[in-house]
Amino acid sequence: MIKITHLTKTYQVNNQPLLALDNISMLIEDKSITGIIGMSGAGKSTLLRVLSGLVSPDSGGVLIDGMAIMDMDAKELRSLRKRIGVVFQGYQLLMQKNVFKNIAFPLEIAGYDKEYIHNRVHQLVDLVGLSGKELQYPAKLSGGQMQRVAIARAMATNPSILLCDEPTSALDSVTTKEIMKLLVEINQKENVTIIIVTHEVGIVRSICHHVIVLDEGKIEEEGLVSNVFTNPKAQITKLLLGKEY
Ligand SMILES: Nc1ncnc2c1ncn2[C@@H]1O[C@H](COP(=O)(O)OP(=O)(O)OP(=O)(O)O)[C@@H](O)[C@H]1O
Ligand SMILES: [Mg+2]
Repeated sequence: MIKITHLTKTYQVNNQPLLALDNISMLIEDKSITGIIGMSGAGKSTLLRVLSGLVSPDSGGVLIDGMAIMDMDAKELRSLRKRIGVVFQGYQLLMQKNVFKNIAFPLEIAGYDKEYIHNRVHQLVDLVGLSGKELQYPAKLSGGQMQRVAIARAMATNPSILLCDEPTSALDSVTTKEIMKLLVEINQKENVTIIIVTHEVGIVRSICHHVIVLDEGKIEEEGLVSNVFTNPKAQITKLLLGKEY
């Protein structure tokens, strides 16, 4: 379980404080798929960055499986990073490395031996449906295929949590559906807890169990997708759901 308590994060912009996360508390159940929605600037990416340990909050706590990330030393943080996979909108692949090498990269950094890496990369290529493409370079792949590589790379160290920041915003609607199907498969087969930041409410409706609605750094509404989307209470949720409300 991920337990977030009273999380705040301020950025300094032109010497002025900007409150990006304002007293965020929430619980995320193991093996669930949670969608985080909100307008641009709501704090969604900041929240994911704090969860992944990339950005430290001003105050508040994040407990992952009972361990507080703020109290971790460098070694514990490194081992935590192996348990959290991250996927971004822009794929962030290494363009000078082929598919195999991109996926192998986190395993090489973690110090696994060649044979393990070889076997694990083949499992991952299979998992994301890219068998036969191991030697291709990213420049020759479609956006959907690049995102599959990014997902395989994020899953390389067998994380228990997969954080996805707008994973499909650069993709067409058919490819988006394929990537969502892949994430559901990964959630079920690999028992991974998934958190997806998106501005596409359709994605949340089709694959998420829970939804969190952020606005100006605050949680405005949260709950089961089936409840929140059929009976939205906050004005911002109604706005995000668009013409349906
Ligand atoms: N590194 C930074 N330095 C200063 N301000 C930042 C930084 N990162 C984000 N912000 C500000 O914090 C607020 C929240 O940003 P964040 O990127 O978390 O929003 P978001 O919900 O992900 O938006 P989007 O949907 O556009 O990606 C915004 O006002 C943004 O300008
Ligand atoms: Mg963002």
